[in-house]
Amino acid sequence: MDAIKNRRSVREYDLTKKLDFETLKKLCIAAEAAPTARNQRSREYIIIDDEKIIQRISMVSKGAMVLSNCNTCIAVLGRNKEELTTPSMQEQDLACAVENILIEATDLGIGSCYIGIYPLEERITFCNELLEVKNGAYTFALVALGYPKDHKVFYDKNKFNDDVIHHNRY
Ligand SMILES: Cc1cc2nc3c(=O)[nH]c(=O)nc-3n(C[C@H](O)[C@H](O)[C@H](O)COP(=O)(O)O)c2cc1C
Repeated sequence: MDAIKNRRSVREYDLTKKLDFETLKKLCIAAEAAPTARNQRSREYIIIDDEKIIQRISMVSKGAMVLSNCNTCIAVLGRNKEELTTPSMQEQDLACAVENILIEATDLGIGSCYIGIYPLEERITFCNELLEVKNGAYTFALVALGYPKDHKVFYDKNKFNDDVIHHNRY
């Protein structure tokens, strides 16, 4: 599947183009197609296209500065752990969802960049307060999104190295 191999972190976006809400919803639908432990409903999403909020959230960490150069972002949230059947697996559910957003975005010609929030408490609190996250939910990650400034960012770089594969035993 080309979208998996071509996905790259995009950090420069064409700010003259905007992603419409339907396209952003498609990314959330792709996220929800990802597996979850015991099929629990452990995730929620905030589609953010308010530029003031994006500028403020870009201050959550050094790594989030990429957001100051983009006009759209999805916050991937974990639902209240107390309401889950398998809370210990929730972070894995969430990471699967983020990856699906990145792959679907690539397939649609949209650039993306994973911004890590969880498990750093100060980042989680910063995002939760800014996004008014309620009901025991928490911010797991942010995904910067937009049309890439330079289409060469989907470059052909082979990240694979044979030394990562073992056969039968380590
Ligand atoms: C858990 C996690 C957190 C990340 N956090 C950031 C971040 O805060 N800022 C950023 O620019 N990139 C972030 N990245 C993207 C990585 O830097 C990137 O995936 C890595 O350098 C490999 O490059 P590639 O995505 O182009 O293959 C994060 C990726 C992961 C998986």
